[in-house]
Amino acid sequence: MSDAAPIEHQGWLTGGDFTAADEPFRLFATWFAEAKRAEPVNPDAMAVATVDASGMPNVRMVLLKGFDEGGFVFYTNLGSVKADELGGSAKAALTFYWKSLQRQVRARGIVEPVSAEEADAYFATRSRMAQIGAWASKQSQALESRMAFEKAIARYAAKFAIGTVPRPPFWSGYRVVPAEIEFWQERLYRLHDRIVFRRDGTAAPWSKTRLYP
Ligand SMILES: Cc1cc2nc3c(=O)[nH]c(=O)nc-3n(C[C@H](O)[C@H](O)[C@H](O)COP(=O)(O)O)c2cc1C
Repeated sequence: MSDAAPIEHQGWLTGGDFTAADEPFRLFATWFAEAKRAEPVNPDAMAVATVDASGMPNVRMVLLKGFDEGGFVFYTNLGSVKADELGGSAKAALTFYWKSLQRQVRARGIVEPVSAEEADAYFATRSRMAQIGAWASKQSQALESRMAFEKAIARYAAKFAIGTVPRPPFWSGYRVVPAEIEFWQERLYRLHDRIVFRRDGTAAPWSKTRLYP
């Protein structure tokens, strides 16, 4: 196998035709596993789009920290712009782009907060400095200087010098529960493959449609 081989000739990718999939979460799991092998940096990075109260869109990258048939989970500061916008609309769209695989996955749906237990369990896996950073950051608020942030970090490092660092009450996660998931694979001459799975509610079955690229 040559690195320069067109993607459809790289034998380690999903066997068979992904457009034959009949359910999106297993296909996502396969593509995500392949992305983790192929992408040198942040294969778990996804753009999350929200809207503000006036309908103005907003988008930013976050890291996917869990997914299963319940949806896609990320963590953030509950005082951030995204949290404010999610509090208003409770809906989001997300996109992954894995350049090395020439693949895109899009999903959109309702958003629900994760449970305190789930957030605690994830927070406990973060490095100590990242835990302290979560305490020190008033994410998306104006910061007068880098020094002010470093002082806040030092203050929390001293406060939590002994024992475990608890999860800040203003820091937790969201689960995007998709009503729609689309898979896009680049093909030669821009003749790409696209399939979209849709469902009317979380208990409803998925229906699949192939789309023109
Ligand atoms: C690759 C990457 C991963 C990121 N992961 C997260 C994340 O998991 N959670 C988070 O709150 N911000 C993350 N950020 C920062 C966000 O993109 C954003 O700057 C921040 O959350 C503030 O967004 P907001 O003002 O729209 O709420 C990440 C940024 C990049 C570039």
